[in-house]
Amino acid sequence: MMITTVFKKADISNLKNTYRVAVVLDVLRATTTITTALKNGCREVIPVADVDEARKLGDDPNVLLCGERSAVKLPGFNLGNSPLEFNCDTVSGKTVVLTTTNGTGAIKMAAKKSGTVVIGSLLNSKAVAKKLLQFNGDILLVCSGTRGNFSMEDTLAAGFIVKEFLSLKGIKNYSGQEITKQRSNVSDVYAAETPIDNNIENNIVLNDSSVAAYRISLFYNDNTLDALYDSLHGQKLAQLGMRHDLTYCSKLNTCNLVPIYKDGIITATT
Ligand code: MLT
Repeated sequence: MMITTVFKKADISNLKNTYRVAVVLDVLRATTTITTALKNGCREVIPVADVDEARKLGDDPNVLLCGERSAVKLPGFNLGNSPLEFNCDTVSGKTVVLTTTNGTGAIKMAAKKSGTVVIGSLLNSKAVAKKLLQFNGDILLVCSGTRGNFSMEDTLAAGFIVKEFLSLKGIKNYSGQEITKQRSNVSDVYAAETPIDNNIENNIVLNDSSVAAYRISLFYNDNTLDALYDSLHGQKLAQLGMRHDLTYCSKLNTCNLVPIYKDGIITATT
C-alpha cells in the first residue's frame, strides 16, 4: 500500500488515482478548530467554501455561523476561526457552519478523490493514524498549504501521521535503503510506479513527499511550537496577536477524537 502526501490542495487535481481514505490537514487553523469544536460537544460541523452559502445556512437558532477571511472573523458571524473560541459553553449541542479561506475548500476537494475524508491536526495525529489502520488501501494525506504553496505546519502533521502509522505497523525507523535490493529486469523497475518487490514489512511505500514530511516530524519532534513559528502563516497569526492560537494548535496528541466528513457534514468518531 502507498501513502501519498500532497503539499498543497491544488495538487489534489493532478492525482491520477482515487483513494480509500484521505486526511485533510490545515493545522493553522481550520482542521484544529473543527477537531476542537467536536471535542467540546458540538453536534456537527458543516464546512462551506463560500461566505454567502454559509450565511444562508446560518438562519437557525441551533446554528453557529463561524469563519474567517484574512484570518479575521467575518462580519455578523458568531465566531471566527480561532479554536480557543470553540469552548464547551459556546458550542455544546450546536451545529457549526464553518467557512475559511483555505481549509474548508481543501476538505471538499479531497472528497472528490476519496471515499472517506478524515480531518487531521497535530491534536489528533496519533488517533488519526490508528483510524487509518481500518482502511485497507492507499492513503492520501492532503496538506492544505499556505497561499497556494507548501506549508510547514501541515507537512509536520502529515509527518507525524506517517510516523505513527509506521510505528503501529511495527516500523520504528523507516529507511529507504531497505527497499532497494537490485533487480535483474531493469525495464520492469523503471516502468513501475513504485519500487517493486519492496521488502518493507507490510509492503508500505511512501512517496517522496511522505518521506520528507516524516523527516520533518523527526526534526521538530518535541518542538512543534517552533515549527509553527517557522511557518509563514504562523508568523502572520502571531503578528495579528494570535500567539495563543499557535500554542494551542501545536499541542501533539491531546485529543483521541477523529472527525470524519461524509455527505457534506463532519461528525466525531473515536
Ligand atoms: C484557512 O482555512 O484558511 C485557515 O484556517 C485560515 C486561518 O488561520 O484562519
